[in-house]
Amino acid sequence: MRRDWNRRARENARHYVVTGQHEWTDEEFFRSGQITMEEEILNDLPNVCQGRDPKHMKVLEIGCGAGRVTRAFAGYFGEVYAVDINPEAIRHIADRAQQEHLRNVKTVLSKPDDPELPANSIDAVLLLKTYHEVASPIVLLRNLRTSLRPNARVGVIDRNGTGEDHGVQKEVVLREAEQAGYRLLEEHDDLVRADKMDYFLVFAAK
Ligand SMILES: C[S@@+](CC[C@H](N)C(=O)[O-])C[C@H]1O[C@@H](n2cnc3c(N)ncnc32)[C@H](O)[C@@H]1O
Repeated sequence: MRRDWNRRARENARHYVVTGQHEWTDEEFFRSGQITMEEEILNDLPNVCQGRDPKHMKVLEIGCGAGRVTRAFAGYFGEVYAVDINPEAIRHIADRAQQEHLRNVKTVLSKPDDPELPANSIDAVLLLKTYHEVASPIVLLRNLRTSLRPNARVGVIDRNGTGEDHGVQKEVVLREAEQAGYRLLEEHDDLVRADKMDYFLVFAAK
């Protein structure tokens, strides 16, 4: 499955963001990221920011794809790390950031199990429709811990699926996050409006 992402992204980097939509105009693509941010992140802002000014925060999107949500984050947070294992996706978003002069976006072509970010640097992390793609999520989450600042939140939005349908059961994520050394802080199923199958889990390192 993972190998497939490079091919898909080469064909059309926006094709498979798991929204069911296959052709996007620029406006539709980035608007959908803006809506996700407004409905799911800004609604939970006090928890995400923990009293910090968003403009002073470094946030991380693991599995940024072609940058639908990264671009929305760039307009709101101080610095955004856009991380993906797919070189085509990273190239796409790096080009876009350059075109739009988004100087606060840093792209990272990641190892599958470790984005290798600076220690104690990240205030909030989002895995949006990505967790089900990660080959070794426990290892990735464990490795991520060193880069988290105290009280950093790690959000996982995904489809309550089977692994065969672009989803993973919520119970699996809860169990694996616990094994990786995280505790569940909140569950915001009610905030995920676009798809009634989705869940939104918020963790912090124990
Ligand atoms: C369904 S796409 C979601 C893209 C984006 N979050 C969105 O909603 O538009 C999943 C992305 O996760 C990436 N991915 C899969 N495993 C990963 C890993 N271990 N680390 C970082 N990115 C990963 C894939 O390359 C793909 O771009």
